[in-house]
Amino acid sequence: MRILSGIQPTNTPTLGNYLGAMKNFVKLQNDFSDADIIVFVADLHSITVPRDRQELKKNIRSLAALYIATGLDPARTHIFIQSEVPCHSELAFILECNSYIGEMERMIQFKEKSAKQGQTVTTGLLTYPCLMASDILLYDANYVPVGEDQKQHVELTRDIAIRFNNKYGDTFVVPEPYIMKGGARIMSLQDPLHKMSKSDPNPKGYITLLDDINEAKNKIKRAVTDSYGSVKYDKENQPAVSNLMEIYSKLKNISYDEIEKKYQGLGYQEFKEDLAEIVGNELKNIQEKYHAIISSNELDKILDDGRDYAYRLARRKIEKVHHKIGLGRK
Ligand code: AMP
Ligand code: TRP
Repeated sequence: MRILSGIQPTNTPTLGNYLGAMKNFVKLQNDFSDADIIVFVADLHSITVPRDRQELKKNIRSLAALYIATGLDPARTHIFIQSEVPCHSELAFILECNSYIGEMERMIQFKEKSAKQGQTVTTGLLTYPCLMASDILLYDANYVPVGEDQKQHVELTRDIAIRFNNKYGDTFVVPEPYIMKGGARIMSLQDPLHKMSKSDPNPKGYITLLDDINEAKNKIKRAVTDSYGSVKYDKENQPAVSNLMEIYSKLKNISYDEIEKKYQGLGYQEFKEDLAEIVGNELKNIQEKYHAIISSNELDKILDDGRDYAYRLARRKIEKVHHKIGLGRK
């Protein structure tokens, strides 16, 4: 069995990315000890919108280091950088020729992102799901852990795989999205109806994994709450507190019931103070490991090994695809 996922190196990952994606990778790594696990830095995906060169370089390395700092073990999980394995772009074009413009235009993320960009929407933003399908299908991944917002792209990947297999004969494993319950959608600390996002213009709404610890704690302490005054999980009526409880529950591995009991009769302040400590401690641990690895040769060695492993698998698949379609001389 193979499990595969990736994250774009845009800015520093937020607590939302961590709880919705990265922490799940680590849990899967530890729970499925016999699975082959591949996690990559999706740098090609990130250039669907313009990026500053220096920033991009920095973010690529930083994300790779954060994978390890948050608990991915390079002895268990293959970690690499997408653009270092050219097969991803190669297969993406072939998949573009086996999918329809209408399918791409229907993607919620494309609709949302393109609505904001007007005339400057790139072709890559439209075809991006084919690149993502390529990332997944190259490696015969069975499960793809992602947040709720990426589920549609994995479903499209399934459609493309099934279509290709029907047309050319069995070529790709049809993958399944793996959405973890709870924490799959962390909301802004300032507006519980919007997803926590690093592109939020209000930095008080999100916490990044490399935020100054005190600043991060203050963001939790100043997070919006509701007018009810009770620590109760009720997404509909108390979305702000429910969101904070989701963060609490995911970080401490305890249920909403247990949290409700613990804070029964107490106001929000005590709950938020405790949560601030919990978040602060988690960030401290991550940051210590991060600083130890970010400038080490060890990181380069891990990424070289990951690239070589991925390339071997991906190249074999590309050759199979060429053969099935009738490309080239062989
Ligand atoms: P992105 O930052 O959009 O590239 O997302 C990287 C990964 O983190 C994806 O699997 C997303 O689904 C997940 N993710 C992003 N933001 C959140 C959030 N606020 N809550 C939970 N998961 C998230
Ligand atoms: N598109 C994903 C995101 O924006 C990142 C990603 C790229 C990915 N390729 C992938 C996730 C393959 C899972 C599998 O979050």
